[in-house]
Amino acid sequence: MSNILILGACGQIGVELTLALRQKWGADHVFATDLAAEHPLLQGTGPFAQLDATDKDAIGAFIRKEGITQVYLLAALLSATGEKAPMKAWDINMRSLLQVLELGVEEKLEKIFWPSSIAVFGPTTPKVDTPQQTVVEPTTVYGISKYAGELWCQYYFDRYGLDVRSVRYPGLISWKGQPGGGTTDYAVAIYHESLATGTYTSFLGEGTVLPMMYMDDAIRATLELMEAPAETLSTRMAYNIAAISFAPEEIGRSIQAHLPEFKLSYAPDSRQAIADSWPQSIDDSLARKDWGWKPQFDLEAMTADMLKNLKNG
Ligand SMILES: NC(=O)c1ccc[n+]([C@@H]2O[C@H](COP(=O)([O-])OP(=O)(O)OC[C@H]3O[C@@H](n4cnc5c(N)ncnc54)[C@H](O)[C@@H]3O)[C@@H](O)[C@H]2O)c1
Repeated sequence: MSNILILGACGQIGVELTLALRQKWGADHVFATDLAAEHPLLQGTGPFAQLDATDKDAIGAFIRKEGITQVYLLAALLSATGEKAPMKAWDINMRSLLQVLELGVEEKLEKIFWPSSIAVFGPTTPKVDTPQQTVVEPTTVYGISKYAGELWCQYYFDRYGLDVRSVRYPGLISWKGQPGGGTTDYAVAIYHESLATGTYTSFLGEGTVLPMMYMDDAIRATLELMEAPAETLSTRMAYNIAAISFAPEEIGRSIQAHLPEFKLSYAPDSRQAIADSWPQSIDDSLARKDWGWKPQFDLEAMTADMLKNLKNG
C-alpha cells in the first residue's frame, strides 16, 4: 500500500489533487501538508499538517514517521509572483525540488511527482504546436527554475534510478481552489466576475492565445502518468500535455453564450510580456504515445461546467 505526502496541498492544484488521491488510495493514506493553514475544502477529508517544503529535516522526519512511499511536490512560487521576488522564487522552487530528490534517494521513495510548466518555453521557441524537444530559452525566473528542475529530475533518474515523473501543465482553470499568481489566472477570474458583476477587465490583451486546460483533465493526467508502467516512459523530464488554446475574447464569447449581457474589456499589465513569451499551442504527441494521454474538455464544455459549479457554489 502506498502512503502519499503532498507538499503545497492548499493551492489551486493541491486541493483537487489531494481530494482525488484520497478517493483513489483512501483518506488515511494521503497526507496533505502546506506552509499555509488547512484549506477549507480539505477540512475533515483526511490528515493535514503544516510543513515547509524547503525544510529537508522536517520532511525526512515526516516521511519516516508516516511510512511515506510517494511524494507530490506542488509548493512553488508561480510565474507572475516569481517576477516580483526572483531570488525568493528561485530559492523556494529549486531548494524544495533538490531536497525532495535527495530524500527520494535517501528514503528509497517509490515515486515522486513534480510539475513543470509551459513557462519553460521562451520567445525563441516555435509558438504553434510547440514540440516536446525544441528551443528552450525561458525569460522568467519561474521558467528558468522549471527547466533546471526538469534537468535535475532526469539526472536523478539516470544516476540513481529515482522514479520521478513530471508534466508541463498549461494554464489551469478550476472552480474549487483559487489560482496562486500565474499569468493565466485571468481565465479563472473571468468566470467569477461574469457571475458576480457581469463585467471583467482582462490583464492580458485581445488576441493573446495561450495553452490552457480544465482542472479535471489536469488531475486525470497526473493520476494517469503516475500509474503508467515505468518502462513506457521515454523521458524523465516533463511531458508536454495539451487540451485547449484560446485568447481572452474567445473565452468571453463562450461565457456570452450563457450570459449574453457579459462585457469584457482589456487593460494589459506586466503579465502581458510573460504571456507573449509563451507558446500558443502545444504538441503533446509523446504523452499520447507513451501513456495514452487524451484531454476531455474543450472550451464550451469547460465554460458550461465552470458556470454551473460556480452558480451552485
Ligand atoms: N496553476 C497553474 O496554472 C500551473 C501551471 C503550470 C504549473 N503549475 C505548477 O503546479 C504546482 C502547483 O501550482 P498551484 O497552481 O497549485 O500553485 P498555488 O500557488 O495555487 O499553490 C502553491 C501552494 O504551495 C504553498 N507553498 C508555498 N511555499 C511553500 C513552502 N515553502 N512550503 C510548503 N508550502 C508552500 C502555498 O501556500 C500554496 O498553497 C507548482 O509547481 C506550479 O508551478 C501550475
